[in-house]
Amino acid sequence: MVKLRKLLTQLSLLLLALMLTFSSTTYAQEASAEAATEEVAADLGGDPVAGKTLFNANCAACHKLYDRAVGPPLFGVGDKYDKEWLYAWIKNSQELVKAGDPDAVKIFEEYNQSVMQAFPALSNEDIDNIIAYTYTPKPVPTAATTGASGGGGGGDSTATNNIILASLALVFLLLVVMLLLVTKTLRRIAEANGVEYEVKEARPSIWSAFVHNQFMVFVTAILLLLASGYFAYGWMMQVGVDQGYAPIQPIHYSHKIHAGANQIDCNYCHSSARKSKHSGIPSLNVCMNCHKNINQYNGEEDLANGYTKEFYTGEIKKLYEAVGWDETTQSYTGEEKPVKWVRIHNLPDFAYFNHSQHVTVAGIECQTCHGPVEEMEIMYQFSPLTMGWCINCHRETNVDLKGNDYYQKVHEELSKKYGVDKLTIAQMGGLECGKCHY
Ligand code: HEC
Ligand code: HEC
Ligand code: HEC
Ligand code: HEC
Ligand code: HEC
Ligand code: HEC
Repeated sequence: MVKLRKLLTQLSLLLLALMLTFSSTTYAQEASAEAATEEVAADLGGDPVAGKTLFNANCAACHKLYDRAVGPPLFGVGDKYDKEWLYAWIKNSQELVKAGDPDAVKIFEEYNQSVMQAFPALSNEDIDNIIAYTYTPKPVPTAATTGASGGGGGGDSTATNNIILASLALVFLLLVVMLLLVTKTLRRIAEANGVEYEVKEARPSIWSAFVHNQFMVFVTAILLLLASGYFAYGWMMQVGVDQGYAPIQPIHYSHKIHAGANQIDCNYCHSSARKSKHSGIPSLNVCMNCHKNINQYNGEEDLANGYTKEFYTGEIKKLYEAVGWDETTQSYTGEEKPVKWVRIHNLPDFAYFNHSQHVTVAGIECQTCHGPVEEMEIMYQFSPLTMGWCINCHRETNVDLKGNDYYQKVHEELSKKYGVDKLTIAQMGGLECGKCHY
């Protein structure tokens, strides 16, 4: 008995030690990362981390840090102008130009009088943060991939997940071993004390017991029926699947280059997704806001697929031809050849889908339904768009009730009815045929 207790204490000590090591290493990593960012912030009088978010959301459509884009490269722009000038310029550059500020007029002329958007909503502190971010040193090519694409951050969390899983597996293994040891010792004690085992008589086989039990047979039959019904239903839900559909478009337009490498916000081009049923495809005038200035492609090439700089530049010329833009005179000729984009996502007429309801009201990211658009060289249909797909999400997603009085009220009533804390779209009526079918 003494031996057993000793063994148990040893095992639990080992467990405790293991858990402590795991938790303390992750904590240490986090702490040092925090310390590192704080150091940089102190040097520049702004928070480059907050600045990066602001920059990506507001400026990245037209500015890069190290290269010319629609606007000038912004690396270290705080050295070029004083703070007050930058505040004034970023909040409303046109006002400065109109006031005849020599620096403002000079840069405005240099960039073919392109109008930089005004940002009256940014505070001086926001601007300090953005300027702090512009001092981020150019990454060394080998390290360039980290953080460049949107999906970068995922690696860490899967690593910690794996560690957690591994330690859980270990814990279970130890538990099993402990149990085995305990039974073994108990049996030994029993033997030592001369207790005799009760020898059970041979059981009837499971199968014959099953056949003789009518209730069991009945239950199994029902289960089988339900399962086959479920699969048949799933099969019917598949009708009309166009997943992966990627037609060739009249102009090779790359989301990877626009939304990915150049971080142009989806809403810049698909602005109606937030406000209306349809997302819509931008008119070519929207393209020309930038492409009056960008007449050739100087970004990354993808030689394996034949996407060279010349190929991409040729596609920009197709855009010029379509809108009737004459590069030599920098003016429109009036001869237009409208582009007919091939529609990719298309629900049948009898189904009703509303973008603003999902994007604005429910706050779902475009990527949840359209996949990693910022990595798509050629746009394709990512989700099946079947009825089963819509309904699955409605079953699984909880309604976001924050700051919505109407839902708050409905929620209180319905959660009483269902006796739950959280409500799925399904419980709110998201499975009613009439909601999606005219
Ligand atoms: C719609 C495109 C666009 C957006 C968005 C934009 N800019 Fe600009 N920016 C320009 C253009 C174009 C110029 C060149 C001057 C001109 O033509 O008005 C410029 C010039 C500048 C300059 C002067 C740079 C120099 O070297 O002289 C600064 C600083 C600047 N922008 C900061 C910002 C910041 C910060 C943001 C985000 C909050 C931003 N810009 C968003 C287009 C844009
Ligand atoms: C610079 C403009 C621009 C930006 C920014 C942009 N798109 Fe697009 N998008 C287009 C054009 C043009 C098309 C039509 C050509 C094509 O299908 O590739 C399109 C097509 C699409 C389609 C397919 C439409 C169909 O026919 O079914 C989806 C979905 C889409 N975009 C989603 C997005 C998302 C999500 C983002 C942000 C990550 C985004 N787009 C950013 C211009 C843009
Ligand atoms: C906010 C600015 C902006 C808008 C709006 C914009 N582009 Fe671009 N476009 C760029 C930038 C930046 C590049 C990359 C240039 C480089 O890397 O040298 C580019 C590259 C291209 C290219 C060559 C690469 C490729 O995607 O095949 C084509 C073609 C093109 N754009 C077409 C379009 C069309 C069509 C639209 C309108 C639907 C559009 N662009 C709207 C900024 C813009
Ligand atoms: C809940 C899923 C979902 C989300 C979130 C979503 N979409 Fe869609 N999107 C769809 C479906 C479904 C269609 C097909 C609609 C149809 O045929 O009526 C579609 C169609 C489109 C189209 C083709 C033109 C049109 O309006 O039919 C574009 C462009 C598009 N989406 C862009 C976006 C952008 C940009 C966002 C983010 C702002 C976004 N979508 C968010 C599901 C979604
Ligand atoms: C990624 C998850 C997701 C997918 C996929 C999705 N929805 Fe939704 N849907 C939601 C959420 C969340 C809401 C709740 C929005 C709100 O708060 O009003 C919603 C609400 C709705 C509503 C309003 C329901 C009501 O009770 O008022 C309709 C109609 C709807 N969706 C249709 C569709 C259709 C049609 C599809 C498939 C083409 C689809 N949805 C795919 C998440 C999704
Ligand atoms: C959340 C939205 C949603 C709800 C709720 C919904 N449907 Fe659908 N339904 C769809 C969509 C989207 C399609 C088109 C799918 C496709 O093209 O494959 C569809 C297709 C169908 C089809 C045609 C199948 C085919 O392949 O042509 C039938 C029939 C149908 N639904 C019946 C119903 C009935 C009955 C209900 C109520 C129990 C219902 N739906 C509830 C979204 C919904």
